[in-house]
Amino acid sequence: MNEWRRKRGKGKEKRGKGKGERGKRKDKRGKRKGKMKKRILSGMRPTGKLHLGHYTGALENWIRLQDSYDNYHLIADWHVLTTSLDTSNAYEDTIDMVIDWLAAGLDPVKSPMFRQSQIKEHTELHLIFSMLITVNRLERNPTVKDQIRDLNIENITYGHLGYPVLQAADILLYKGDCVPVGEDQVPHIEISRELARKFNFAFGHVFPEPEPLLTQFSRLVGLDGNAKMSKSLGNTILLADEAEVVKGKLKKAVTDPQKMRKGDPGRPEVCLVFSYHKKYSPEETGEIDADCRSGKLGCVDCKMRCAAMISSFLEPIIEKRKYYESHRGEVMDVLLDGERRARVTAEATMGEVREKVRLG
Ligand code: TRP
Repeated sequence: MNEWRRKRGKGKEKRGKGKGERGKRKDKRGKRKGKMKKRILSGMRPTGKLHLGHYTGALENWIRLQDSYDNYHLIADWHVLTTSLDTSNAYEDTIDMVIDWLAAGLDPVKSPMFRQSQIKEHTELHLIFSMLITVNRLERNPTVKDQIRDLNIENITYGHLGYPVLQAADILLYKGDCVPVGEDQVPHIEISRELARKFNFAFGHVFPEPEPLLTQFSRLVGLDGNAKMSKSLGNTILLADEAEVVKGKLKKAVTDPQKMRKGDPGRPEVCLVFSYHKKYSPEETGEIDADCRSGKLGCVDCKMRCAAMISSFLEPIIEKRKYYESHRGEVMDVLLDGERRARVTAEATMGEVREKVRLG
């Protein structure tokens, strides 16, 4: 039996009651009662292999929360269409991302992982929600405004403007209580809350008002000093990067411009390598800080030390990644199983929605 089926089998035994279990513990208004865990709906757009910015900004948090909440992990593949119609890599990008999720430690037995595009209820709820919000409200969304500016979009599509409406459907279809996100996504979650309220008021109570769970660690700076690590800026360290690659990338990293050669005193507070040390070598930061300031520690040595720390963190992830790379069938099984489980919840919610909307 392959690794995935073995684990899945175990999970089934443990869960015992199976899929009907949640439904039994609801009160009349469809709210979950008692000691049930709160539910998290987390999501990412599939952009291929993940980098350390994704890890510190999202994935690490998801992994930390996976035992204390009931989780659904969504792959927002329809959302990709809002900014690009080139879907030629969509499938590969999805698989690459799921491999990183698994390799980093998300457990698919505990929490379903699924593609939005495979659960058609998202479109139906999206349509209903689109009747509950004005164009004006969507145009005021700062996250979409920033995107329009960054991507130089002259005329926004109807679908792109409705990005947060689809996101609300993603969250509320699973009755997500909490959504782990970075600051930039908070305006979207606010729209989800408004839509939940609006629906409940217009048709009757179905949805919770989801809360953002802000990520603890601030963003990881890019290797070029840009405030954000991002694939399009080419300033990332991938979870899949082998030790030699990490070294090569760090060699080129920007440091304090005033520290030209080894003996020069440096300023750790302006150095991005030091910000990585804070994350990956927390016990050594005191010493690194002092030795950088005194000039005892040169940038090359400091960078190689940082590369080694990052690589020792990445080593087990890379190991697991290799396993899944050569067992792609298992990765597909994870998705198909996740989609089957997500569909059960999505269908149940849409059943309630249809009943409340009373179209027959
Ligand atoms: N908007 C999110 C992003 O850009 C992706 C996303 C889509 C999402 N649907 C979601 C995130 C639902 C959380 C919940 O990263």
